[in-house]
Amino acid sequence: MPIAWTQDLNTGIEVIDEQHKSIVDYINQLEEAIKLHERSFVTHVLNELVDYTLSHFAFEESLQEEAGYKFAKPHKAVHDVFTKRVAAYLQRHKDGEEVADQVHVMLCTWLVHHIKRDDMAYVSEVKASMTNIVKDKNKKGWLSASLGRFFK
Ligand SMILES: [Fe+2]
Ligand SMILES: [Fe+2]
Repeated sequence: MPIAWTQDLNTGIEVIDEQHKSIVDYINQLEEAIKLHERSFVTHVLNELVDYTLSHFAFEESLQEEAGYKFAKPHKAVHDVFTKRVAAYLQRHKDGEEVADQVHVMLCTWLVHHIKRDDMAYVSEVKASMTNIVKDKNKKGWLSASLGRFFK
């Protein structure tokens, strides 16, 4: 079943919510590709999904750093563990193993859980820091510059 976007997934930080929605779209696309039994399409979606998610992680980590968020390091560690897990799955998929269904289930569970627990935890601090960034003339370009840095 595709992931439906529900209110409790909204962080209230628009740029983050848009990125999370894109990741959800990729996960739902992966489900479609699996249903079609199109191996090359599954590979394509998985590659795009991993690429986009890594950009999102890097952007999120830089926001947390900028905000001086006290759990920035453990949050990054959670991202890193997930990245390794997905990379291992991707390799097994590319080696011809039938792991697409497992990856799909893992992605659904992990993402929803991570947004609701870990991402929600940084919201108040990051939101406050972003308000300052927008107000501060010297820092104004920082947000768009860092978006440009992580997303091609
Ligand atoms: Fe995160
Ligand atoms: Fe996130």
